[in-house]
Amino acid sequence: MNILLTGGAGYIGSHTAALLLREGHDVTLLDNLSNSDIGVLDRLHAISNREISFVQADIRETDVLERVLVGNHIDAVIHFAGLKAVGESVRLPIAYYDNNVNGTISLLRAMQATDVRTLVFSSSATVYGDPKYLPLDEKHPTGPTNPYGQTKLHIEEILRDVAASEPLWKIAILRYFNPVGAHDSGLLGENPNGIPNNLMPFVARVAAGKLPRVEIFGDDYDTADGTGVRDYIHVADLAAGHLAALGYLSRTPPGYEVFNLGTGQGYSVKEMIAAFAAASGRPIPSVVVGRRAGDIASCYADPTRARTLLGWEARLTLADMCASAWRFQSRLAES
Ligand code: NAD
Ligand code: WQD
Repeated sequence: MNILLTGGAGYIGSHTAALLLREGHDVTLLDNLSNSDIGVLDRLHAISNREISFVQADIRETDVLERVLVGNHIDAVIHFAGLKAVGESVRLPIAYYDNNVNGTISLLRAMQATDVRTLVFSSSATVYGDPKYLPLDEKHPTGPTNPYGQTKLHIEEILRDVAASEPLWKIAILRYFNPVGAHDSGLLGENPNGIPNNLMPFVARVAAGKLPRVEIFGDDYDTADGTGVRDYIHVADLAAGHLAALGYLSRTPPGYEVFNLGTGQGYSVKEMIAAFAAASGRPIPSVVVGRRAGDIASCYADPTRARTLLGWEARLTLADMCASAWRFQSRLAES
C-alpha cells in the first residue's frame, strides 16, 4: 500500500514508518517539523535501505495535501500530526484547537476531494479523563480534563460524524496509553526539546547524568507503593498496532471503530525507575515531591477489543522498553 503519515517525522510516526517500510509498504511522510528534525529521514533510510518520500508542509495546507494524496497515489492515511503537550495546551488552547482540530478538518477535506477514505487516527487515553473504573475499556465515558484531550475528543467526534455521513469512509481511532521505548537500532526514539514533561524521557536523562534526579510527583496515591500507575506500551508494539488497524480496515466494510492500544498492565513510577536502573546499570537518584496538578492515581487499558478484532496485542516487556530507550539515549550521547 501507499501510506501517507502526517506527523511522520515524529516519535511514533517514525517508528511506524520503519515498520511499514520493513513490511514492504511505500510511505510518504508529511511533517512541518515543529517537533521533529529532518535527520530522522537519514536514520529511516539507514534502517530500511529504502528511499523515503518526505514533504515539509503543514496539515492546514489543504492544497498541498491534495497534491500529495494524488501525486503519490495514496491508499490510506495515518494521522499522527498534532501538538501533544498537556501543560502547553492549557496555556495555548487556541494554538492547540487550530493545529489539531482545524488541521484534521483540512486533512479530511483533502481526502474527500481526492477520494482517499481510509484513515487511522492517533487518539489518546487522555479522552477518558478521570477513570470511573479500571481497566478502561472503549465504552468508558469520555471527559478530558485539559484542552489537548479536548482536541482529541473533538476530532474523534468529527470523524464519527464524517463516517456516518458518507458510507465510504473506513476510520480506525487508536487510543494510545503511555508510549515509551525506542527502535531496536538505537536510531529512532523520543528526544523532547528542553526538560522532558513525561516520566520515561526524564528518567533516561537522569540515567545519562544530564539531569540530577527524578522528582516523583507524589507517593500518597491509592496504589501499591503510593506512586502513580500507568500503562506503558513499547513504541514498537504501538507501531504494530497501526499495521493491524490498516489490515482490519482493508478486510472489513466501511465504518468507524475505536480501539485502546495498551498492554493492560500498570506500572508505578517507582517500578519504572527501578526497571530503568536495572536496564542501564546506572544509579537513578530520585526525590518524592508533591503531586502534579491534574494527575490521577492509576490508568490502564482493557486491550481486549484490539486483541479480538485487530488480532493485535502488545508483546514487549518493561525490560524491553527500558533497554531500547537506554540504547537510544546512549547513542544520543555519542552523536
Ligand atoms: P511528536 O510530536 O513526536 O510527533 C508529532 C509530529 O507531528 C511532529 O513531528 C510534528 O512536527 C508534527 N506536526 C505537528 N503539527 C503539525 C502540523 N500542523 N502539520 C504537520 N506536522 C505537524 O508526537 P508523538 O508522540 O509521535 O505523537 C504522535 C501522535 O500521537 C500525536 O497526535 C499525539 O497527540 C498522539 N499521542 C501521543 C502520545 C504520547 O505520549 N507520545 C500518547 C497518545 C497520543
Ligand atoms: C507518568 C507518571 C506522573 C514525570 C501524559 C499525557 C497523556 C499522554 C501520555 C498524549 C505519572 C509521574 C512524571 C516526572 C513523575 N500523552 N511523573 N515525575 O501524565 O500519564 O500522560 O503522556 O496523549 O495525555 O497526560 O504521563 O509520563 O507525564 O507521567 O513522577 O518527572 O509519572 O505523575 O504518575 P501521563 P507522564
